[in-house]
Parts: sequence; C-alpha cells; structure tokens
Amino acid sequence: MSFKRRPLIAGNWKMNGLLDFVKNLAGVLADKVDQNDPTHFDMLICPPATLLHPIKILVGKSGLLLGGQDCHMAKSGAHTGDISAEMLKDLGSSHVIVGHSERRVDYNETNEVVKSKAEAALGVNLTAIICVGETEAERNQGITVDVVKSQILGSIPERATAENIIIAYEPVWAIGTGQTPTKGQVQEVHVLIRKTLGDKIGLKEAEQTRLLYGGSVKPSNAIELMDLNDVDGALVGGASLSPIDFWVIAESCPK
Ligand code: 13P
Repeated sequence: MSFKRRPLIAGNWKMNGLLDFVKNLAGVLADKVDQNDPTHFDMLICPPATLLHPIKILVGKSGLLLGGQDCHMAKSGAHTGDISAEMLKDLGSSHVIVGHSERRVDYNETNEVVKSKAEAALGVNLTAIICVGETEAERNQGITVDVVKSQILGSIPERATAENIIIAYEPVWAIGTGQTPTKGQVQEVHVLIRKTLGDKIGLKEAEQTRLLYGGSVKPSNAIELMDLNDVDGALVGGASLSPIDFWVIAESCPK
C-alpha cells in the first residue's frame, strides 16, 4: 500500500542571520505561505536560536513553522551556552534538528548523544529531525550503507514514530559543495533508511515517516530530487537564505 506523505521543506540557516534578516527573510516567507494557503507542502525554518523570538512575533499564527538547530539532552541545569528542547518549544518551535554532520564533527557528537538529544526533543513534543549521511571517504570505501544503517539504528529513540521524527539524509560531501549524488544514489539510500526504520519502529510507521534529502539542494535540481519516490522534502542550507530560491524549491514538490 502506498501512503501519501506530505512534503516538508526545511531551511537550516546555520550560523547566519542578524535581526535585519527577520523581516527580509522570515517575513517574506510567512506572507507567501499565507497567500498560497493551502500549500501542498509544509515549510519550516530553523534560524539561529537568537532569532526565534523575533521571528515568532513577526510570523505570528502564519503557517510557517519554526525550529531549532540543536538542543541539549538534559532538561535544564549547569550547561553553559546550551539550549534545552523546552526552551526551543517555549519560543514557538515545533521541530529541532539533531545530529547534523557539522555538530557530529565540530562537537564529536556520537549516535548515542544524538539519540539522547532526540529523546529530549520528543519529551517536550518537538519533532526531531535526525540527520545521517556518509563522508566522501566512506562513500569511496563503499561503506555508505553500513554507515547510514548504523547511524539510523544508533540515533533513533525507542519511542520514535512517524509523527515525532523525520530523517534527513545529508551526504557530508554534498553539503555546501554544489555536488549532489545522482538520483539513483539518493533513492537507494532513502530506500535503505526506510527499510532500516521498518526494522526498528515497524513497517507501518516507517512507511509514513518523512525522509528529507539535504546537500546542495537548489532551484535547478529541486524538481528531480523532490520527484523521487522516497524523498519527502528537503533540508536546505545555503539556498534557504534566499526567500526566492527557498520558495522555488518548495514549489518543486510534487502535488
Ligand atoms: P547546503 O544546502 O548549503 O548544501 O546545506 C545542506 C545542509 O547542511 C542543511 O542542513
């Protein structure tokens, strides 16, 4: 049985954006989402945590969703500089990215750490966007399948469902490089992710879970990527900083 999954286009602003970005980018997108209501996709932006509050005030009750880029695994306490899942929720977030490769590399985040962060997110009813993906060296060694499989099995909480998690496949070598895998390579890994998810959370949940592709998604390649059977949207970095490009990518999702 095939199940129609609603596409999600998510923008990861990473460490970009000052207050002037709020009106220019978030305001424009919120207006577009409202003017085009009902859209055939969900749109989410994950700005730096410093901008969540002003953006929430600006976008108000618009259909534009807000999310964080990371959270701590603990509820609160002595963790200088960190942000809890509840704090993100408090500022109007519905989602949080965990396990992005930049955090896995910069902060040595293991699958175990990523799983704890995802658990913290689920604990306050945030949807966890769990990132996985192989490095260039791993792809060249032919171990992409093993790497992605072990990331999925190690990073997903036991209580994960199609409602409370989303998986983003982001090959590290495609992030910010302008290089993208072939359509066949993307579909192959997404099928593997769905199958591995099925072993972990059950086939029905796996069939309904949204799988995003991320890594150099732009207006020029969005249609062919979003058209793949097991791709249910995108996690966009650089191109999400242009409201025009980000909107074109969203509109590329099949209806
Ligand atoms: P780019 O779209 O800039 O390649 O970044 C992808 C990404 O890391 C999104 O999380």
